[in-house]
Amino acid sequence: MRAITYTQPGGPEVLQLTDLPLPEPGPGEVRVRVAFSGVNPTDWKTRSTGRPGPDGQIPNQDGSGTVEAVGQGVDPVLVGERVWIWEAAHQRRFGTAAEYTVVPARQVVLLGAVPTFELGAALGIPFLTAHRCLTAGESLPDRLGPGALAGRTVLVQGGAGAVGNAAIQLARWADATVIATVSSPQKAQLAAAAGATHVIDYRQQDVVHEVRKIVPHGVDAIVEVAAAQNAAVDAEVIGLHGAVAIYAATGDQGVTIPIRSQMRPNARWQFVLVYEEPERAKAIGVEDVNAAVLDGAVRVGGDAGLPLHVFPLADTAVAHQAVEDGAVGKVLIDVTA
Ligand SMILES: NC(=O)c1ccc[n+]([C@@H]2O[C@H](COP(=O)([O-])OP(=O)(O)OC[C@H]3O[C@@H](n4cnc5c(N)ncnc54)[C@H](OP(=O)(O)O)[C@@H]3O)[C@@H](O)[C@H]2O)c1
Repeated sequence: MRAITYTQPGGPEVLQLTDLPLPEPGPGEVRVRVAFSGVNPTDWKTRSTGRPGPDGQIPNQDGSGTVEAVGQGVDPVLVGERVWIWEAAHQRRFGTAAEYTVVPARQVVLLGAVPTFELGAALGIPFLTAHRCLTAGESLPDRLGPGALAGRTVLVQGGAGAVGNAAIQLARWADATVIATVSSPQKAQLAAAAGATHVIDYRQQDVVHEVRKIVPHGVDAIVEVAAAQNAAVDAEVIGLHGAVAIYAATGDQGVTIPIRSQMRPNARWQFVLVYEEPERAKAIGVEDVNAAVLDGAVRVGGDAGLPLHVFPLADTAVAHQAVEDGAVGKVLIDVTA
């Protein structure tokens, strides 16, 4: 099979198009014929600093495709099913930047007949992270679904990002009021297209003032991409029993949280790393994200605030560079091209 591999950490140039034997699914695993591979910041960060094995690491966690074979102990009824894949390359060799991958059966999720493979490959890391951020709070529900966040207000910092877009879509599906921040009018259009109820340009407007105008008692949840920059704002707009979910870091930057003002609302500051979230939360996240997909509540493309940028498999290095350069929208690899 054609596969992208790397044997040393480094820049995108370490990614090589190679020819590998077709991988056999082991016990509990499935082999998927990959349609699209999704690229996330974690993929280039792992490529830059990770420790690939001598046989070569295939990059990229997210993907979509068709189950082609099952290993011992896996129900053969899965063969032929369209699926999306999460965390394929997490502590495993076979990421999704290849014509085939093998993953544990629990890491493929039935996509059904209608949702596109492009959508399937855009789900894993961003949507599971967003789900965790929207549920990791004392006054938040464990599960998302229609009505789960009715009457609640969510602030999504960076609403035009991939995780930000997912947080807007999932929160709106759950009937929250969503306020998104962005840095430009173009990004404001994307956040609105994703479904944000209110959009604030944090470069032009006073975020605290604007949020307090919309929700005087503060917000219930904050999905935070830039805590080092935004902690003071978050501390001022978090409401009673609200939770700030911090899922991104810039280098080694820390975060300063005012203690006294955060005691009064019993605010929770919650750190999130999708790979290491509690197993039960992950399982619920997978189920809920798939329910949103089957509900038709989750979309990709410019109309959904997530423009697609599709590269052929041989250009995986270019795709990684695009993500590292801050591509706006979703970078995908068409593995069949
Ligand atoms: N912890 C986890 O499990 C986890 C999971 C997924 C992603 N991540 C990390 O999360 C980060 C974002 O991932 P992504 O895929 O969403 O990337 P992305 O699509 O590039 O989005 C990043 C967004 O952050 C916004 N942003 C940057 N500074 C901001 C600020 N001060 N205030 C508000 N928004 C700001 C950017 O827009 P502007 O620059 O225009 O504001 C951009 O829209 C990456 O560092 C990634 O590694 C972590």
